Amino acid sequence: MNLTTPADLPLLGAVQSRVVMAPMTRGFAPDHLATAEMAEYYRKRAAGGVGLILTEGTIVHPEGDGYRNVPHIATDAQAESWAPVIAAVHGAGGKIFSQLWHCGRISHAELTGGLQPVSSTNRAAGGLNRQNDKPFGEPRALSAAEMPTVYGQFADAAVRALAVGFDGVQLHMGHGYLVDQFFDSRINDRSDAYGGSVENRCRFAIELLAAVLARVPADAVMVRISPSREMNGLYDWPDLEAMLAHLLPAFAGLGLRMLDLSCAGSDYAKTAGRLMPAVRTAWPGLLLGGASLTAAEAEAELAAGHVDMVTFGRALIANPDLVARFRSGGAVTEFDRAMLGRLD
Ligand SMILES: Cc1cc2nc3c(=O)[nH]c(=O)nc-3n(C[C@H](O)[C@H](O)[C@H](O)COP(=O)(O)O)c2cc1C
Repeated sequence: MNLTTPADLPLLGAVQSRVVMAPMTRGFAPDHLATAEMAEYYRKRAAGGVGLILTEGTIVHPEGDGYRNVPHIATDAQAESWAPVIAAVHGAGGKIFSQLWHCGRISHAELTGGLQPVSSTNRAAGGLNRQNDKPFGEPRALSAAEMPTVYGQFADAAVRALAVGFDGVQLHMGHGYLVDQFFDSRINDRSDAYGGSVENRCRFAIELLAAVLARVPADAVMVRISPSREMNGLYDWPDLEAMLAHLLPAFAGLGLRMLDLSCAGSDYAKTAGRLMPAVRTAWPGLLLGGASLTAAEAEAELAAGHVDMVTFGRALIANPDLVARFRSGGAVTEFDRAMLGRLD
């Protein structure tokens, strides 16, 4: 198994490498539409040899927005704006999934078009929202009766994404956003069937996935979770092993076959990497993971059989031709935060 050579993978089929571009919000989508600049940005990464691109988080409904200038996929026109991006990536030999995103309480009414953010809880997230330097907005806990509406927002978005030619969708269930706000007992303070026990805290995610899989084929659906990470105030689900022991078989039982274990920007070896061997044993399908690994570390993870593909985030912002550099053993440019100010 090799990081940079073509592979024929279950579900995904032929990919030009096992390098995956991690989903990265960039904020260059005014009017919530994908642009020609974005098409060129993603095309370059595919042309550089990336096997699979996971797009930046794309908002399924205005109520789920929490960031400025991020793309939405709540209307057909928004979905269609991605057609040139998809064509550019396919033309360069890559595959591309749309990452479907709902921020939940990591938001503010200023970012949702005036709608009150929703969550598992009525309690606001701590700290300041860097999008507007104000405290996060006070959310409204979703009632059980409203949840099917949110599931429908994801399912509709998935249908739209596939209709415009995405190879698949990734449901963002990590990083302290809406679904994670149900998983985590330090946030989820509900006393109904969606709070309390491990089974209850996983219920929202499982029902959401079931609703999506009722509308689109399982070979086009991936889930991203981040059971071990530092972002938006979380670090490890407190009952991590029990959660994974319940969630992973439930996901697999619904037909899910593709899973991405993220640790956001935390140290891979101490977080997601630590879980990979156990998850690998429990997970029958395609497994993705990574975070700032060197080529040698990524090769070692593949060789150990811990993952099938390796995600790279910031290194692919800094090096559109990262795969080619890995192949040639050339120097890799260091990521620098100033690079976030432009899309190239
Ligand atoms: C600028 C930036 C934006 C990000 N946006 C998203 C996002 O929209 N969705 C997501 O799941 N992860 C997002 N992440 C996390 C990355 O997907 C990835 O997990 C993280 O950067 C760790 O990988 P790396 O160390 O290789 O960069 C973002 C990371 C960065 C640096």
